Amino acid sequence: MSCKETLLQPIKIGNRIAQNRFFIQPMECNKEDETGNPSSSTLQRYCDLAKGGAGMVSLEAITVTRESRARDNQLTIMPQNQEALTEFVGKVHEANPKTIFIFQLTHSGEISNPDFSKRVTPNPLPGYGGELLTEADVEKIMDSYVTAAKIAYKAGADGIDMKLCHGYLGSQMIRPHNDRDWKYGGSWENRSRFAFELIERIREAVPDEKFLIGSKVSAWEGFPGGFGTEGPHSPIMDLTEPIKLIKGLEERGASFIIQSAGSPSITISLTQVDKHIPYYAYMHQYWAKEFRKALKPETVVIGSNFSPFREGKNGLCAVTEEESSLLNYGAWCIENNVTDMIGLGRQSFADPYLPKKLEEGREDEIHYCLLCDSCLELLIQQSRVGCCVYDKEAHAELVRTRKEKGALKVSHT
Ligand SMILES: Cc1cc2nc3c(=O)[nH]c(=O)nc-3n(C[C@H](O)[C@H](O)[C@H](O)COP(=O)(O)O)c2cc1C
Repeated sequence: MSCKETLLQPIKIGNRIAQNRFFIQPMECNKEDETGNPSSSTLQRYCDLAKGGAGMVSLEAITVTRESRARDNQLTIMPQNQEALTEFVGKVHEANPKTIFIFQLTHSGEISNPDFSKRVTPNPLPGYGGELLTEADVEKIMDSYVTAAKIAYKAGADGIDMKLCHGYLGSQMIRPHNDRDWKYGGSWENRSRFAFELIERIREAVPDEKFLIGSKVSAWEGFPGGFGTEGPHSPIMDLTEPIKLIKGLEERGASFIIQSAGSPSITISLTQVDKHIPYYAYMHQYWAKEFRKALKPETVVIGSNFSPFREGKNGLCAVTEEESSLLNYGAWCIENNVTDMIGLGRQSFADPYLPKKLEEGREDEIHYCLLCDSCLELLIQQSRVGCCVYDKEAHAELVRTRKEKGALKVSHT
C-alpha cells in the first residue's frame, strides 16, 4: 500500500467514521471576543480546516469557566456561550459535513493567568501556586465540565476531549506531585478519581453513543512528580500510571486517546519538539506505541509531533529525506501499529489543506511548517496566534508583538 493510500484510509472512531488518518490537534489561537465566543477569524480557521479534509478536527482548548483561563481571549463554554457555539458548529459542519469536529474541554488550574483569572491547585508546584482546592471546589469544577459537555452536544459537536495533558488542571490532579491527603490526592485510586468520575459523569449526562469521548494525555511530564514519573519526588519515567489511566478511560467509554507529553510551562520542548532537536519526536512515537499496545484494537490512538518531519528536510540523521518525510514516516507509523492517526499541530497552521492536497495529488503544493515556533511566541505573549510564515496577518501580529513586548526566545537552543 502506498503512503497516500495508508493515510487516506477511513477509520472507525466509536460509532463514527473518520474519512482519513489525519487529526487536527487543538491549537489555541487566543482570538475570541470578550465573552469567549468564537470570532470571525476563529470561524475562518475551523472552516478552512474542515474544507481541508482532515478526518477529525479538534477545537482548541475551550475553558469550562471564565476564571480558569490561561489566555486572555480564550474560547469559553458556559451557558451564555451556547447560542454562539451552536451557530459556529453549524457553519463548520456546513463547510464539510464529513469532518468529525470535537471540543477540547479544559480548566487551567494553577496555570490560570492571575492577570485575569484565579489560580487554584491540588498541590502547588514550586514557582506556581494558587489557592488550595477543596473537595467541594473539585465537585463544582466537575459540574462545570459536565455542563460544558452538554453544551458541546447541544451545539452539535461530535464529541469532546477531556484534557488531561500539558500541565492544566487534569494533569495537576493525576500527577504524583498531588500527594496531599485528600479525596483526590495521594494514592493512584484517589488521584485518578477526578478523571474517572468525570468521564462517567459526562457519559451519563450525554448518553448518545454517537457523541465521542476521549482524552489527550501527557505520557511523561518530564519533571519530579510530573505525570508518568515513578513518584512525587522522582523525574524518572514510569508509564505504569499513564497506561492505567488510558485503560481506565477506555473501560469507561473513551473511544480515542491523543498521545502527548510534557507540560509546556515547564518542559516546552517535550510538548512541541524543537527544530534543533527533531529526534525528540521519536520519543512521542515510542509513547504512542506503548499506548497502542495497551489498548483494545478498536480504541483509536492518535500520535503527536509529526510537524517536525516536514517534507524530509528536518535535520534528522541516518535516514533519507524521502523516508523521513511527514507523509512517508506518518504512513510507516500507521502500518507498524505505532499509531492509528497522525496528529497535526503547528503543521495545521502552516497548511490547513494538507489532507485535501494529498487526496488531489497536489503534494508538491503543501506548505510545510518551518518549526520557527513564532506561533508559540504569539501564544505566550497573549497575542493572536497564526502561522507567521504563510499568513500575513499573523506575521503583522508578530511584528507588532515584538515591538510592543520585546522578542521572546521560545526554542530550546
Ligand atoms: C500555538 C500553539 C497552541 C497550542 N494549543 C494547544 C491546545 O489548545 N491544546 C492542546 O492540547 N495542545 C495545544 N498545543 C500543542 C499541540 O496541540 C501539539 O500537541 C504540539 O504542537 C505538537 O504537535 P506538532 O508537532 O504537530 O505541532 C499548542 C501548540 C502551539 C504551538
